Amino acid sequence: MTDLFYRNLGSSGLKISKLGLGTDQVIKNKEYKELIKCIKCAFNNGINYFDAADSYVDGNAEEILGGALKYFSRGDYIVSSKCFFPRSIIPSNSGLSRKHLYDSVHKSLSNFGLDYIDIYYFHRYDNSTSLYESMSAISDLIKSGKVLYWGVSRFGIEQIREIVTLLEIHPHLIPPICNQWYYNIVSREIENELVDYCVANGIGMIAYSPLKRGLFSEKSMKLIPDNDQFFSNLSLTNKQALDLLKKLSLISRPLDLSLSQLAMGWVLFNKKITSTLSGFRNESQLLESISIAKNNLDEDVYQNINELLCY
Ligand SMILES: NC(=O)c1ccc[n+]([C@@H]2O[C@H](COP(=O)([O-])OP(=O)(O)OC[C@H]3O[C@@H](n4cnc5c(N)ncnc54)[C@H](OP(=O)(O)O)[C@@H]3O)[C@@H](O)[C@H]2O)c1
Repeated sequence: MTDLFYRNLGSSGLKISKLGLGTDQVIKNKEYKELIKCIKCAFNNGINYFDAADSYVDGNAEEILGGALKYFSRGDYIVSSKCFFPRSIIPSNSGLSRKHLYDSVHKSLSNFGLDYIDIYYFHRYDNSTSLYESMSAISDLIKSGKVLYWGVSRFGIEQIREIVTLLEIHPHLIPPICNQWYYNIVSREIENELVDYCVANGIGMIAYSPLKRGLFSEKSMKLIPDNDQFFSNLSLTNKQALDLLKKLSLISRPLDLSLSQLAMGWVLFNKKITSTLSGFRNESQLLESISIAKNNLDEDVYQNINELLCY
């Protein structure tokens, strides 16, 4: 595996593969044997990053992933989890209070069956808790050895600024090393200011939903015309989505790439993104994503896509 496949995450020394496995769809409805096969396949192809959250797969993702990772050496993989969303109707079971962070990290450790978690995320910003409280709590968890690094998910520029300011005022706080955001051909908000600001402050960007939850695929092209509501929750009308897929396939077909590879390749081309989380559903989808991660899109193909989208 070339060094280009691994990058330091933010200002840390943690070397993370540029393609990571997001376990949400990956684990859902999968036979255990099939899951192990996929994880082995990922490992054999150089992927070292596995992302989970306390809420994925109705709260079962960590346990299933932890079981599958037992077959591998702890030093060889990076595993992450997150908390914020309510885990029950009990008020203390949500958000980023010191208590919920402490409870969540311990529950995640027990679910995974691990002694430490590599990266722990604030899944969303918590308006009801002071950020200082959450940052001191995660810094203490890191000092206690339960967590090695921390990150945030969907924190906007003002929220990152707040973190940077708190770090300046309170030097005992430990800085985050990454920010997770959705990023794909049609969801490019982070390009405005956020990516550069994060990178300048030692915070690496992790992209998720590179295929817009599976929109960018030949399967969608077939399904959209017969499903009025097919992508109604994805901020595109059916007609817009279908037109876009047709245009993209004019680029992908002559290159012998699938639509998914073209869309994934476009995200992976952006060097400001440290790692991209693939949400594959089976081994053949995973292998498709790995192939484009290893071979990269040519610059002119990347530019053709941008021109097509009028950027
Ligand atoms: N931090 C956050 O708030 C947040 C939010 C969402 C996700 N995430 C993370 O990011 C991960 C990935 O997100 P996502 O599931 O939205 O990613 P995605 O890659 O945009 O979508 C995944 C779906 O795309 C289809 N797919 C994947 N590879 C394909 C291929 N090679 N060819 C054709 N179709 C393919 C599959 O759907 P079908 O085959 O069923 O069509 C798969 O379920 C999640 O598992 C999670 O770890 C984080």
